[in-house]
Amino acid sequence: MSVEFFLIITPGLESIAREELLEKWPKLSKVYAGLFQATPSLKVEKGGLTLHCAEAEGWLLNAYLKIPSRILQRFESFRASDVPKLYEKTRRLEWTRFFREDEIKVESSTHASRLSMKDQIEDVILSALRDAREHQPFRKSLLKVPQTIFARIVDDHVQLSIDTSGEPLYQRGYKTKTVEAPLRETLASAFVYASLKSIGESSYILDPMCGSGTFLTEFIGFNIATRTRTFAFQNFPCFAKILPTYKLYDLKSTQLKVYGFDQDEDSLEATRENLAILKKKINFEIEIQKQDLFAATKSDIQDTLILVNPPFGKRIEISGGVSKYYQSVIDTLIDVYQPKAIGILCPSEVRGLVTRGHYEWVKNSSVPISTTTGGLEVKFELLRKV
Ligand SMILES: C[S@@+](CC[C@H](N)C(=O)[O-])C[C@H]1O[C@@H](n2cnc3c(N)ncnc32)[C@H](O)[C@@H]1O
Repeated sequence: MSVEFFLIITPGLESIAREELLEKWPKLSKVYAGLFQATPSLKVEKGGLTLHCAEAEGWLLNAYLKIPSRILQRFESFRASDVPKLYEKTRRLEWTRFFREDEIKVESSTHASRLSMKDQIEDVILSALRDAREHQPFRKSLLKVPQTIFARIVDDHVQLSIDTSGEPLYQRGYKTKTVEAPLRETLASAFVYASLKSIGESSYILDPMCGSGTFLTEFIGFNIATRTRTFAFQNFPCFAKILPTYKLYDLKSTQLKVYGFDQDEDSLEATRENLAILKKKINFEIEIQKQDLFAATKSDIQDTLILVNPPFGKRIEISGGVSKYYQSVIDTLIDVYQPKAIGILCPSEVRGLVTRGHYEWVKNSSVPISTTTGGLEVKFELLRKV
């Protein structure tokens, strides 16, 4: 039976998230017998992707897709313009398929509707759930994962969705240490994937300002199932019936190497710790070095992919103009490493960056990417050796 899922995506990353799904789907059909056979019906929307597929397929995507931040399963939709109607409809739904005795949270949004107060909507849904529990007992607790209902009301039309992810998907379970201004894993993955799609495979990368090492962990984990955390769907009482054998696979196994440099000792320590957790599950090589990028001269690491997220100059002070600073990062990286490509995340106000020597800006359906991080508008640009 086909079910509707909504994959929540950071605005700006929707089309690269679609490409990730379309590339990984046929690989999933090879490892899961009987699943992921037909190409899914897919619609790109602002802030997400709507997908129709089998229930088990939608759930499993939590472990394989690295760009979405949450996966919602559409549960029920109906018209309700007042409290009694919302209560009555909600009370009668079959919640026992998804929820256990533990706490349930409701997150609502409302637009152009008579039910216009979020707190009231959430209270009504919770009291209807309490009523439902009296008539249909919920199963005992199993896993410690958040249970959440998302309620969206537009023009008096209520849509209830079940969260299948639990903690947001950018919490991969291997980042225990962070330093200032870490990048979200979902963004880092989008930039890793967009770069690889544009320049072809690479078995190593360098981040010369690695902070807590997010580019490095995402490069390693992109084609590997997330096994370092639990998802909400694993707690659903109907889970074992629908997915009797739950096994995760790797979609590609290549021996990868990552180089992480930074001038700051705490950042290097964070990168070391985060990579060490990942190394318990995946085999790869690491080289970590204390290095001020601007003091670097020549390097043995040549022809690599470099991904870099220099300080934005907002939360972290940078001297001189922001654009001048970003230009000097690019110039230094070309001089020292003559890399295959440089992917750089810049604040959107950075203007007039120029290339040097045999390098050109890549412009295709994957890059550049404009998005936001920590409330700042940013742009990911890719420079490639020609
Ligand atoms: C925005 S943070 C990078 C965050 C990282 N992408 C992450 O996800 O954690 C910028 C990093 O650049 C480092 N940095 C700043 N100037 C540097 C320099 N001249 N050489 C090397 N690292 C530098 C800082 O120590 C900081 O860790």
